[in-house]
Amino acid sequence: MYLFPDRLTRFFIRARCQSWSRAKTRRRMVERRRGGKEGPPPRGMRRIGGMAGEPGLGLALRAVTERVQQAAARRPQDLPAVQPRLVAVSKTKPADMVIEAYIHGQRSFGENYVQELLEKASNAKILSSCPEIKWHFIGHLQKHNVNKLITVPNLFMLETVDSVKLADRVNSSWQKKGSPERLKVMVQVNTSGEESKHGLLPADTVATVEHINTKCPSLEFVGLMTIGSFGHDLSQGPNPDFQMLVSLRKELCEKLNMSTDSVELSMGMSMDFQHAIEVGSTNVRIGSTIFGERDYAKKSAVDKAMDMKAKEGMAQEL
Ligand SMILES: Cc1ncc(COP(=O)(O)O)c(C=O)c1O
Repeated sequence: MYLFPDRLTRFFIRARCQSWSRAKTRRRMVERRRGGKEGPPPRGMRRIGGMAGEPGLGLALRAVTERVQQAAARRPQDLPAVQPRLVAVSKTKPADMVIEAYIHGQRSFGENYVQELLEKASNAKILSSCPEIKWHFIGHLQKHNVNKLITVPNLFMLETVDSVKLADRVNSSWQKKGSPERLKVMVQVNTSGEESKHGLLPADTVATVEHINTKCPSLEFVGLMTIGSFGHDLSQGPNPDFQMLVSLRKELCEKLNMSTDSVELSMGMSMDFQHAIEVGSTNVRIGSTIFGERDYAKKSAVDKAMDMKAKEGMAQEL
């Protein structure tokens, strides 16, 4: 005989069913986030540069790599047809994220602070899991930090030489280290003239490069680097900072009899890397678009301000 449930029983049955349905939805969401049987997560749930072990970082890296390649394909023929190098800027990000990016195929990484670079590059897990890693130093280098920088394992390039004195100091430290290879260096130029940016005056570029080429036998000059002004409105034409770096390279090559192909241009960050490549960048430094927002708690006020400005610009491009 069927007994119709009383009101209280009906209430409990309904509550139970609702709770099962909520649990099922939660399980589906977790599966989606892991890229499980229901495929990649829907747009709104994707995170750029998620935690280690989640698919966000790999997807972000792949998307950036594709955008780099597409921008390179749009370059005019007269620019050197080199594949631009992607330097993943891991500043403030944990070693696990570096390893995860490495597992996804990334090899070049950039850091702004000597101490942070030294700690990350010496991290036992990074040393054992990332044998082909190449570290770029992309921050302002003070002379008292040169000896520390020189000890960084797998240091591949110093992108921020901004004076003859600094070049001399790095040269003699590298010489003392007795490495068989010269250290690759770029000369940083302050193309925007902004006080918050480091770098040489554009007019001092040729003399500084000539000094490195003739007086610093332990250094190998490989290119010019700039940060450029943030938030440039592309509807007004190409970014004048990038154009200035391109024309400085031309002047340099003519005056010092160097080939254009031998001088790289490091320009372009999350907000403007596609444009930078289209006008000639061969080395883009990209952080937040790969790894997600940086942890501001660990950063200086100047750095924080630069990041905020960069983000304003990013909104225009995306
Ligand atoms: C010199 C330099 N290049 C590139 C980056 C990466 O910037 P973004 O996170 O906007 O890609 C930074 C970040 O601090 C930087 O200082």
